[in-house]
Amino acid sequence: MRSEGFVLTIDGPAGSGKSTTAKETAKALGFDYLDTGAMYRAITLKFIESGISLHDRKGIARVLRSARIAMNWRHGNLEVLLDGCDVTREIRTQRVSACVSPVSAIHVVRKRMVLEQRRIAQGRNLVCEGRDIGSVVFPNADLKVFLECDIEERTRRREKELYDNGLHPGRNRVRANLIERDRIDSSRDISPLRRVPDAVLIDTTMLTIREQVAVVCSLALAKLRKKDRA
Ligand code: DC
Repeated sequence: MRSEGFVLTIDGPAGSGKSTTAKETAKALGFDYLDTGAMYRAITLKFIESGISLHDRKGIARVLRSARIAMNWRHGNLEVLLDGCDVTREIRTQRVSACVSPVSAIHVVRKRMVLEQRRIAQGRNLVCEGRDIGSVVFPNADLKVFLECDIEERTRRREKELYDNGLHPGRNRVRANLIERDRIDSSRDISPLRRVPDAVLIDTTMLTIREQVAVVCSLALAKLRKKDRA
């Protein structure tokens, strides 16, 4: 593909299949992939470890200034580094999942993450997934997708993902965490999770990952052809 700087955004609630769809779509298109949730999780881990209160504005600013978050691709997997340490597994634990929504509702945290995400995207062909990617981070994206999925199916998927990583929190706990995160992510004042009118809505409840990827790829290829012709 000739296009440079093609941005495809994928937003949706936790467990809707964003990460896998984004990762596989990026691989199929030969694009880079950015999981912005992993960035919010990494900064949440930093807050937890520094022991500061989320009401301590000065402390938050200090932690944000000192945090170094880096994303590396290693053998097709995304490695997340916090201050030089590999935290890929740790950011998926319940300890982090339980705190990530309140942290990501903090204005200065979002400001810093959005700047970082735009910097990473510069000059790249990118699939970027999160909650506010099509609405706030890249409002002029070439293609916007919004994934939806039934809560029971999302619970099942998230439970399996945790199980595959050796974690067994139990179905009720996983479901409760998803519902609570949906509530906070959709109702926060700043950059709430919402579908923008120009995003293509895909309900993934009855779809396999292969099918989801095929739908998103065909939408992207059509846009890429159009962009290359322009
Ligand atoms: O996609 P995830 O479950 O790993 O995301 C973790 C949390 O990060 C999620 O509860 C909301 C927040 N998030 C956000 O507010 N904005 C984004 N662009 C990505 C994630």
